[in-house]
Amino acid sequence: MRTEVWDLPTRLFHWLLFVTVAAALWTGWVGGGWIDWHGRLGLTVLGLLAFRLVWGVFGSTYARFAQFAPTPGRILAYLRGHWHGEGHNPLGALSVFALLGVLIWQATSGLFSNDDIAFEGPLADLVSGETSTWISGLHRQGLWIILGLVTLHVTAIAVYALRGKNLVKPMLVGWKESAGPTVKSARGGPLWALLLALAVAVSVVWIADGGLLPPPPPPPPAGAVPAW
Ligand code: HEM
Ligand code: HEM
Repeated sequence: MRTEVWDLPTRLFHWLLFVTVAAALWTGWVGGGWIDWHGRLGLTVLGLLAFRLVWGVFGSTYARFAQFAPTPGRILAYLRGHWHGEGHNPLGALSVFALLGVLIWQATSGLFSNDDIAFEGPLADLVSGETSTWISGLHRQGLWIILGLVTLHVTAIAVYALRGKNLVKPMLVGWKESAGPTVKSARGGPLWALLLALAVAVSVVWIADGGLLPPPPPPPPAGAVPAW
């Protein structure tokens, strides 16, 4: 019997997050001429995360944070083999929240960072040069935390695959084969929630890109600039 687990917005979010985070890690690492692209990719990651935060409240059953919140009770039950739910299991949920949290920090800190050469995040002028340099250092270290969490994430999925449980297919097609009708398909995730999540994502990206900052002062008139 088919059980719908991951709605289309959650799946699109996931695979777009994968591609944009991988590209942001790469362009950040090589730096140089790629840093402009790095900023754009980072802003896209931020938009995706804003989308997911709203979808985690109003999305369909298994996309909701409350549904997979890793409470101590649920984690204990899972470790004792007494957890039989659908969606993210309580341990997986820990890694999901860790990934989301670290990526939110990474994308936000990037806005205030600078590369000591010609590029600075769109909100870097809101803090002192010293603070921006300090945040840039933390932002650079984020690379290792993200690589660590992603390695753990992909390793856990590979371990499940070796034990005969394919988690990747449901994240691609949305449904999984389940034993009987006791398992409930995901419900909800109305159009208004999707539109709200998209609107919030676009607004967050606009604000993060400096949309609320005063426009830069106009260049001085030509005659006022000394000729040397
Ligand atoms: C930059 C790399 C990646 C990041 C940041 C990432 C992040 C995430 C996040 C945040 C979730 C939770 C989804 C949600 O509820 O919104 C998730 C779930 C998932 N990811 Fe990834 N992911 C990455 C790479 C991958 C790769 C390469 C694969 C496939 C091999 C993969 C397979 C999955 C699967 C199968 C789930 C669902 C797990 C479950 O059933 O509980 N991810 N990932
Ligand atoms: C989740 C999204 C992001 C990821 C994964 C990410 C990752 C990285 C990585 C790996 C580096 C290089 C670290 C190193 O050289 O050791 C870096 C540097 C940098 N990133 Fe990001 N970043 C993200 C978002 C952003 C955003 C949104 C901005 C600004 C718009 C930004 C601005 C910068 C700057 C200015 C540097 C250079 C820092 C320096 O050289 O000290 N990043 N980032």
